[in-house]
Amino acid sequence: MFIAGMAMIAVSTTSCSQKVDAEPTLKEAFKDDFLMGIAINADQASGRDSIGNAIAAKHFNSIVAENVMKCEKIHPQENEYFWDDADAFVKFGEENGMFIIGHCLVWHSQCAPWFLVNENGEEVDAETLKQRMRDHIYTIVGRYKGRVKGWDVVNEAIMEDGSYRDSGFYRILGEEFIPLAFQYAHEADPDAELYYNDYSMNEPAKRDAIIKMVNGMKQRGLRVDGIGMQGHMGIDYPDLGDFEKSIVAFADSTGCNVMITEWDMSSLPTVTQSANVSDTVAARESLNPYVDGLPADAAKAWNDRMAQVMDMFVKHSDKISRVTVWGMSDGDSWRNDWPVVGRTDYPLLFDRNHEMKPFLGKYLENVNKQ
Ligand code: G3I
Repeated sequence: MFIAGMAMIAVSTTSCSQKVDAEPTLKEAFKDDFLMGIAINADQASGRDSIGNAIAAKHFNSIVAENVMKCEKIHPQENEYFWDDADAFVKFGEENGMFIIGHCLVWHSQCAPWFLVNENGEEVDAETLKQRMRDHIYTIVGRYKGRVKGWDVVNEAIMEDGSYRDSGFYRILGEEFIPLAFQYAHEADPDAELYYNDYSMNEPAKRDAIIKMVNGMKQRGLRVDGIGMQGHMGIDYPDLGDFEKSIVAFADSTGCNVMITEWDMSSLPTVTQSANVSDTVAARESLNPYVDGLPADAAKAWNDRMAQVMDMFVKHSDKISRVTVWGMSDGDSWRNDWPVVGRTDYPLLFDRNHEMKPFLGKYLENVNKQ
């Protein structure tokens, strides 16, 4: 390990040693390519996680809220908003001059339980849902107007086969819930960038459907600035050729910026939905093989593939405006609990000791040559 370990970060927050100041940072390494973003949690934004807070400030020039702006957190009851964590997140970004991204305004998952139903638990009618969406978006986007620079307006609305997800939003409003969300967000802050964000963006049918949907909105005069390609990868998926085709197609076919919005790569055996993951101890162990640390061959395979992916992002930096990693250090990642709960995964740019992963070395070396 060569840089930015825990000790270095601790030093950088307490003094201005020349050595620390001279260390290259990720945001410098990619400054001519794209913004380097990171999803942070409430502890990192507030400083309760002081090391995570310092790494975010040092290496990244964009942040996104991993959880604190999701509907169930920020708007738990119809007439009740919870602002403390979101306010701290925005304040941290402003204090560090970062491009701040809000995530996410309309998403079927983590939607507050009251949002789609009436007092009898039945789905509300279209007019009621429109009014709730408008209130939700106006209130949140309005509070951070001019401060949050871009919003994931709609998240994960299209399935891999190109069909619309059968969510409550879709059942009640049909396809129109997506343009409505973009309309409301633009009305609330005309200067904010607005994005559509989704996963499995390498899938051709999904790619085509999203291009059609985004172009349909643009033809109606709605503002759509970016397409967020979540980058939840594994050691053997996605096919990088297909992922690259989507980067090019989204940019060329819609004129939107492409953003790699949720980058991480599992180091663990890939689990398919049909795999039996819970019947025997042996099965559990084979799916969670690295509880005591990542062996050298697995670490090399992970670092090699991450470098391949990063090279692909740099190659298309004319189309990609931001690359955002989904979490601070390996111990923080949601991948430890998905698709199998309680595994020990190694998916992020910083390990459990906040040491930077080796594949980034070649990009940082270039900073010193500039
Ligand atoms: O904060 C509570 C804590 O109080 C409680 O004790 C604990 C018990 O389970 O739960 C904590 O909340 C969890 C939260 O993460 C913070 O850790 C939720 O249960 C858990 O569901 C939540 O998971 C998040 C997930 O979205 C669902 O919102 C992950 O952190 C987050 O990384 C993940 O992010 C999503 C993107 O928003 C959209 N794309 C997919 C991506 C991965 O699922």
